Amino acid sequence: MVTVSEAVEERRSVRQFIPDKPVPLDVVRQLVKKATRSASGGNTQPWHLYVVSGDKKVELTEAVFHEMGEGNLGDAPEYNMYPIECPDSYMVRRRKVAKDMYDLMGLKRNDKLGRVNAMRRNFEFFDAPVGIIVTVDRVADRNGWGHTGMLIVSVLLAVECFIMTRSLTFFRNFTSTL
Ligand SMILES: Cc1cc2nc3c(=O)[nH]c(=O)nc-3n(C[C@H](O)[C@H](O)[C@H](O)COP(=O)(O)O)c2cc1C
Repeated sequence: MVTVSEAVEERRSVRQFIPDKPVPLDVVRQLVKKATRSASGGNTQPWHLYVVSGDKKVELTEAVFHEMGEGNLGDAPEYNMYPIECPDSYMVRRRKVAKDMYDLMGLKRNDKLGRVNAMRRNFEFFDAPVGIIVTVDRVADRNGWGHTGMLIVSVLLAVECFIMTRSLTFFRNFTSTL
């Protein structure tokens, strides 16, 4: 068993999973149960978790691809992923991570189709056998979002002790499809 310190140190975003290596549902249940021990102000627990796997996961991916095929590029975002006035220091990091990622995939800057296909992999959960969709209760304000962030870290670390994981925000654009 990996310790929490090791999990913190080793954590990284994995963008390719072994599709036919199923994760037993009771392992997922245990992990979620552990992670939801996470602290929240006033113990409000302003989050919801939805676990998808098997046919449901495929159905979700197909529903998003269907929407995209119909020209729907997503709902109007309910929040900004990045500050509207993104500080230069953030932009430097964003550009670097994007460049590093595309270089690793062997994708050229002008390879638009390649980049779209790479983006689509998000909706395929990068072949992960299980996806956990975390939502924040709409009544929660920014403070509650922070509490949910703490829950997500707990999920990532708890999972990391057993299995690899990664966080995805791409689904935020398809909340109505979800
Ligand atoms: C809330 C959150 C959402 C993210 N969403 C995505 C995503 O949609 N797609 C993606 O490829 N990476 C996503 N990432 C991963 C980041 O790009 C990654 O954490 C960052 O580049 C640092 O790399 P590392 O996690 O390997 O240390 C997300 C990370 C966080 C914390």
